[in-house]
Amino acid sequence: MASDSSDDVTQAVKLLRDGRLVAFATETVYGLGADATSSAAVRRIYAAKGRPPTNPCIVHVSSEAVARRYATKWPAACAKLAEALWPGPLTLVVEKIAAIVPEATAGRGTVALRVPNHPLALALLRAFDGPIAAPSANRSGRVSPTTAEHVRRELGDRVDMVLDGGPCEVGIESTVLDLSGEQPVILRPGGVSRQRIEELIGPVDVRDAVVAADEAAASPGMAAVHYSPTAPMFRFEAGEIQKVVDWTRRHPGQRMALLVPVGRTLPPELSEGEGHLILAMPTTPTDYARMLYAALHNADVEEVLAIWAQLPPDEPAWTPVRDRMTRASNLP
Ligand code: TXA
Ligand code: MG
Repeated sequence: MASDSSDDVTQAVKLLRDGRLVAFATETVYGLGADATSSAAVRRIYAAKGRPPTNPCIVHVSSEAVARRYATKWPAACAKLAEALWPGPLTLVVEKIAAIVPEATAGRGTVALRVPNHPLALALLRAFDGPIAAPSANRSGRVSPTTAEHVRRELGDRVDMVLDGGPCEVGIESTVLDLSGEQPVILRPGGVSRQRIEELIGPVDVRDAVVAADEAAASPGMAAVHYSPTAPMFRFEAGEIQKVVDWTRRHPGQRMALLVPVGRTLPPELSEGEGHLILAMPTTPTDYARMLYAALHNADVEEVLAIWAQLPPDEPAWTPVRDRMTRASNLP
């Protein structure tokens, strides 16, 4: 059940002030939060997730005015983006002040700031009255949680409290935009499109969507394999369904999950009658993003032996979804 009572927020603030971990709903995915001004508290995040200390966290604040306090400079582009798109699924990387502990930023001189668009997250941030470091509330390298139940299954008693705000509206992580250099760069595609950003501040660069793990210096979350479900996941383009049929021939009797657009006609080998878990996925990018991680968590719960996922069209509106699907899957 969704919890939105002020008692829960009061309890969560008390835990955060004691240096404990509170997972909370945002509009993108659930975050695993700790006081971003406490080294000991932030270290707990890394321990609970098994997260490499080289991967910095996003720091959440309640408003643009608060964000400015933690940045040494606030370029005009930040002001424009924040005014238009905050609260919302956009994270801005800027030069930080010392109050944000180095553990939260993996020792960098920059901090990734975001104002989440969720009433419970905002109530928590206002009541805490400080910055909350929060990566996604999953074990490192696994699929991000979009419900409180996903968080509990992933982290169990490694988290001191879960603020349940219901299923996440956006469903994939925020767009990460680096504004600390000469030219703005999208480090991770996400809830806010490149087009929307360029309408506001002009041309931006885009870091290659997928980089090898050892080259993932600028934004470690961009590593090639990330967000993986337990079962091996394979991807295919709409015209390549034969690849899936071939796989079932090579693996008789093995149950797989198949993510395909709702209404797609399937060859008989791939039917539910053969025991497979057919996950009918939405046909618009926003609906698909909302469902994607829940579908992958579902496949994990069902203990399928493989996941085959049809990639949506290679079009700008689908870029964030294709990015997450590509990084969740093994190379074809
Ligand atoms: O939607 C979201 O962004 C969610 C919710 C909870 O807000 N959070 C999230 O956090 O996805 P996480 O830790 O899973 O991803 C943070 C991303 C990583 O790709 C990380 O490398 C990048 O942000 N990042 C954080 N600080 C950075 C910095 N100072 N410079 C460059 N990249 C940074
Ligand atoms: Mg994450």
